[in-house]
Amino acid sequence: MTALLHTIAETRQHIANARRSAQTIGFVPTMGALHEGHGALLQRARQECGYVIASVFVNPIQFDRNDDFERYPRTLETDLAFCSRLGADAVFAPAASEMYPSRQLTRVEVAELGDHLCGAFRPGHFAGVATVVAKLFNIVPCDRAYFGEKDAQQLAIIARMVADLNFPCEIVPVTTVRESDGLAMSSRNQRLTPEQRRIAPAVYQALHTMQSAMARGRTAAEAKAAALAILNQHPEFRVEYLEFVDPATMQPLDTIAGPVRAMTAVWLGGTRLIDNVLCALPNRAGPEV
Ligand code: PAJ
Repeated sequence: MTALLHTIAETRQHIANARRSAQTIGFVPTMGALHEGHGALLQRARQECGYVIASVFVNPIQFDRNDDFERYPRTLETDLAFCSRLGADAVFAPAASEMYPSRQLTRVEVAELGDHLCGAFRPGHFAGVATVVAKLFNIVPCDRAYFGEKDAQQLAIIARMVADLNFPCEIVPVTTVRESDGLAMSSRNQRLTPEQRRIAPAVYQALHTMQSAMARGRTAAEAKAAALAILNQHPEFRVEYLEFVDPATMQPLDTIAGPVRAMTAVWLGGTRLIDNVLCALPNRAGPEV
């Protein structure tokens, strides 16, 4: 039975009980509308931890557009059933008034890592994410917290926040889960029209092209041009950014000397899709003798 917890007090009590029986606490923070991407995080937590708790909270302070916040799917009942199927012990689903009883004057801001990519286009977004995750870590003190590589900039920012502020938990990255045609799973995919859904996999095809161009020794500029050519076949796409970045610092790179992430955000109608892949350079070692 998965416990549904609405208050901070009862959640702290549950965690304290689990700790008393010396269980490792695994935490999966989410905004709900759960899909198999979230499922991979829950499964990993279930494998590695004695007690697994997810949070479902559509965090108002990380939305830079009000319509996006209002349209965000809210499906707590099915989310609870989903968590239960995957063996979660509890779901923390607070009301906004529980998380923000008064105006939140304290913000957690991780400098530099949010300067580019999504950070440049969504003002205040990553401060909103870091602030709510810091609050959640204080409500759900955990040993391991699970985050998806799908949101690689968010993952880098949370990992840095945990290191800089000495949160006593380990951040566990989980590989992106994709639909069979390559589209990265996302709660926002529900908003795509059938026609948009048909062309959406081109986002991953573009990133995959960057990955294989790098593996074949092409320059970053050549790889980007090849990816843009794929996206530009569909006038419905509006590319917000398409970059190679350092995986830890999230700074864009023009010349590439080590493993990098190819990252993109594109608009398809009123829906913004983000995705990324890790790229390795060609193996330049000579033939083995
Ligand atoms: P949300 O978008 O619900 O995502 C919750 C977690 O699931 C994040 O760590 C995200 O990277 C991961 N995830 C989403 N889609 C995935 C996929 N296709 N494959 C693997 N992992 C995936 O990210 C947030 O919520 C919020 O910003 C949050 C961290 C909860 C703070 O409010």
